[in-house]
Amino acid sequence: MSRAAPGLARDLPWVGARDPWAVLVSEVMLQQTPAARVAGPWRAFLDLYPTPAALAAAPLSEVLTAWRGLGYHRRARDLQRAAVALVERHDGRVPESVEALRALAGVGEYTARAVAAFAFGARVAVVDTNVARVLARAVAGRPLAAREAREEAAALLGRRDPRRFNQAMIDLGAVFCAARPRCASCPLARVCAWRAAGGEDPAPASAHVTRRQAPFAGSDRQWRGRAIERLRHGPATAAEMHRHLAGLEPARRRRVLEGLVADGLVTKAREGFALAGAPRVAR
Ligand code: ADE
Repeated sequence: MSRAAPGLARDLPWVGARDPWAVLVSEVMLQQTPAARVAGPWRAFLDLYPTPAALAAAPLSEVLTAWRGLGYHRRARDLQRAAVALVERHDGRVPESVEALRALAGVGEYTARAVAAFAFGARVAVVDTNVARVLARAVAGRPLAAREAREEAAALLGRRDPRRFNQAMIDLGAVFCAARPRCASCPLARVCAWRAAGGEDPAPASAHVTRRQAPFAGSDRQWRGRAIERLRHGPATAAEMHRHLAGLEPARRRRVLEGLVADGLVTKAREGFALAGAPRVAR
């Protein structure tokens, strides 16, 4: 796999990045946002916050604005909490061990391993949704539990270059071994266990293979984004916010606003709503 023909790998801006902070930011953004939508915001975010210390010092309201277009804003809040921990406990730097990375807010097993492998070249296998599909179909030819998938990946990694191996696996899963597979052009077709055996697709029953996300249009996610977008321009009274979310029935409007407050993204005071960490000056 590490000899995949040039041109098969996707041309994504974070591929080859070695700055651990830049890699951590990319992996957090990629957790729930498609790669094509991450490239622009990733560069802009790093221009604004080139180091953990820069992010740690920024008001959350500004960070939420920089997160524009990525959705799932809790990740921005967690990334800032992680940046504070990096400043307080790691001398302002991203640690190298999976265990220390795992202890950061918003960093799970996948993200910790991705940062260790891509930023530091650590010999760890990265298993995300894409990779889990490749392993279940092409390697095992049967559904895999989470632990089995990690073991298969580690065995395949062997002595190969962890950066190239893991990137190749992610790209195979994104480009060819997608939810709807493109076997006709897949470089693994000749060695694929599922293709050899035929039968039911082993991927959907495997761990790590998440179902498709619920549609964005009309979702609470979309309305949360709309509320945050309004508050980027400054605080708003409760009446203004309810008018801004007028397309939603009142109970859902309240749920969306209360959810943002509960997540620490928005503050609510007598005078109305504001982005958390914003100067509380009513217009
Ligand atoms: N998705 C998650 N991590 C990725 C990476 N390093 N490259 C491409 N897509 C990804």
